[in-house]
Amino acid sequence: MTARIVGIGAYVPETIVTNHDLANIVETSDEWIYSRTGIKERRISVKEETSDLAAEAARRALEHAGIKPAELDLIVLGTSSPDCNYPSGACEVQAKIGAVNAVAFDVSAACAGFIFALNIVQGFFKAGIYQNALIIGAETLSKVTNWEDRSTCVLFGDGAGAAVLKNDDCGVIDMLMGSDGTMGDFLKCKSRTLGNLLTEERPELGFTEMNGQEVFRFAVKRVPESIETLMKRNQMSKEEIKYYVLHQANERIIEAAARRLKEPMEKFPMTISKYGNTSTASIPLLLDDMLKKGMLKQGDKIILSGFGAGMTWGAVLLEWCI
Ligand code: COA
Repeated sequence: MTARIVGIGAYVPETIVTNHDLANIVETSDEWIYSRTGIKERRISVKEETSDLAAEAARRALEHAGIKPAELDLIVLGTSSPDCNYPSGACEVQAKIGAVNAVAFDVSAACAGFIFALNIVQGFFKAGIYQNALIIGAETLSKVTNWEDRSTCVLFGDGAGAAVLKNDDCGVIDMLMGSDGTMGDFLKCKSRTLGNLLTEERPELGFTEMNGQEVFRFAVKRVPESIETLMKRNQMSKEEIKYYVLHQANERIIEAAARRLKEPMEKFPMTISKYGNTSTASIPLLLDDMLKKGMLKQGDKIILSGFGAGMTWGAVLLEWCI
């Protein structure tokens, strides 16, 4: 048995912030941002928290799947920007959508969070423990962005995407995940610093910090490597893969991956220009976009690939069975 995607949903906040808008607050330009990242604009949440975005994406995915919230056994939310330290974002979503019979928890794997969530569900399904699951990638990274740091604030955006999964005989074919904590400083957002009755300092909140070149180097190596591993171990030729659905971090990373895989850019759909890097949300947002454009057909083989802070990475080879 395996995880079959039976519904996809997406939701982004309505406020659009363009590169030109950002050029009014930091020393940058549309030309610099677009030429280095492929980003033109991103959505920024004004009122909605991560769990609000996640719940709306979840409702849409459930509607697409034709499954009622009460039928869900499991909710796994990938996020690095939850509303609270506790309760988990997944529990908040559970309450918001009325998934009264589900167990719910978050997974923290940064931009690989959606892939990790999918693979966790896959494990439960293979063990025969659950039948219907909801996975979500949702972020309001805008709240952990340093809006005075031009090297990071131009990259990220807010949004959410979700998938409903059924334990079935068609869907995920193979998957892999990896982590390397020794690279943790490449991309980091510290939580509240230590500050308590025994310390002189008061707690401070951290913001996203990044060594862009190291992250770039890491991604262009790991992404093609993990895709090739999946293809090799399943004796799958490149011709059999319809699309590579990559985490939308940067168009240049995607182009470099395509070059290394010797595959044409048409096989790498993108939403980066309109949403920026939405971390865990980017893969389901992209799947939603592809579905709406009629790009995914029953029987298509696709590979999903995510990577991010940790550093973490993961990839999934699946057959599209909606
Ligand atoms: N606008 C204008 N100039 C900027 C800028 C901005 N928004 N951000 C940085 N710069 C400047 C730098 O200050 C630097 O100036 P200097 O040469 O005078 O010091 C110059 O541009 C080059 O900076 P550098 O960091 O070397 O640029 P880069 O070509 O490596 O591009 C990234 C920066 C962030 C676009 C690139 O490293 C990248 O995409 N990395 C991966 C990031 C990522 O995907 N993270 C998420 C992973 S999940």
